[in-house]
Amino acid sequence: MISNVIRGGINGVPSIPGDKSISHRSIIIPSISNGICEVNNILKSDDVLHTLNAFKDMGVNIKEHKEKIIIQGRGLNSLKGSNKEIYLGNSGTSARLLTGLLSSQKFKSVLTGDNSLSSRPMKRIADPLIKMNAKIYTTNGSLPINIESSKLKPAKINLTIPSAQIKSGLLLAALNIKGETHIIENKITRDHTEIMLESFGANLEIQKFDNKKVIKVFGQKELVSSNIDVPNDLSSSAFFIVSALINSNSNIILTNINNNPTRNGIILALKKMGAKLKLFNKRTNNNENICDIEVVSSNLNGCELGPEFADLMIDEYPILAIAASFADSPSVFRGLKELRVKESDRLNLIVTNLQNCGVNCKSENDDLFIYPSKNYQIKNNIIKTNFDHRIAMAFCIMGTKIGPLNIKDSKSINTSFPTFMNELNNLGGEIS
Ligand code: S3P
Repeated sequence: MISNVIRGGINGVPSIPGDKSISHRSIIIPSISNGICEVNNILKSDDVLHTLNAFKDMGVNIKEHKEKIIIQGRGLNSLKGSNKEIYLGNSGTSARLLTGLLSSQKFKSVLTGDNSLSSRPMKRIADPLIKMNAKIYTTNGSLPINIESSKLKPAKINLTIPSAQIKSGLLLAALNIKGETHIIENKITRDHTEIMLESFGANLEIQKFDNKKVIKVFGQKELVSSNIDVPNDLSSSAFFIVSALINSNSNIILTNINNNPTRNGIILALKKMGAKLKLFNKRTNNNENICDIEVVSSNLNGCELGPEFADLMIDEYPILAIAASFADSPSVFRGLKELRVKESDRLNLIVTNLQNCGVNCKSENDDLFIYPSKNYQIKNNIIKTNFDHRIAMAFCIMGTKIGPLNIKDSKSINTSFPTFMNELNNLGGEIS
């Protein structure tokens, strides 16, 4: 994909797809609930389709329509073992959540993925489940994972890695365990799973203390389906937000965007950098916060973000780094260790690619330092993405300012935002 400099700004109302995290959960949770669930505005990207196909393979009746799917759930123990390996492509969310859910089922499963997913850490979800008596066998700590049927026991699990994927995998396992399972988060992460489970009638007790959370799950209570409207994805919106901020003469409006307070660090960070962002029409639907957002071109300043921001916006550092490259003062983003184990080593790719674009930046002890300048001399316009969708989209936005940039392996964008290029071009982008 080639991303070229744009002249006239980014203007209009982009069509942002449904939220990826909520879309996965909108397949998983109704599939183990009772009744019919109509899911509107579900994201139809590669990652979510892997989750969808997994549940079809496990016997769930799912009907697909253009913008919605209809799931007929038959309860906590209604899934059937798949007669083949469950292939999850690039999707870490599918892998962690399904490892948890399937460890408390009465059949064996094998989970596999693409090369990138097969190199990501899975002991982080396997180990706490093994403490709950699960029989899980990873391959050197990664996929393929073999899950044997086992009767899980309630336990108290203290999470040391801040991860909504691990928490959600454990919650899904605990739903099918007789007794009281405690999951303790020492740093609060996105809470879409808890929100959806509570609205489907799960027996959860949640206590919050500062940035800590204790979730008690009283298992083996059957869930009852209700319809879901998936809000649009703030993480996908962030690429458009930053493109409008850094390109002059821009004005965009994003509608129906998920503004969950455990996920909206990018808004707080950009506001700290002086971004002209207006959040309006604030409302709730399915207990998720939603709003519309107006963005106009802005003169950004640099800022320092502590590690507490990482839990609120882990997926947005690639695009935030692009914004920081066009600020009028340096930025430091601290505590980015988890960026190293995403779809790629994102911290490394941010630094290498920015340096190739001529930006003075470095990472030190998992902190990222960016020293912006007024003019960039490109050293190498080939952007290496290691098939990471967010690196590809972030540097596509970089290209709108300093292009042409040649973004390698940009097909990965289909994992979360298949219409990205068309949407950007419709609003004034020069992507081919
Ligand atoms: C996700 C959680 C995050 C995030 C990922 C989606 C989820 O991962 O990076 O894109 O849907 O729960 P971690 O929970 O592992 O940080």
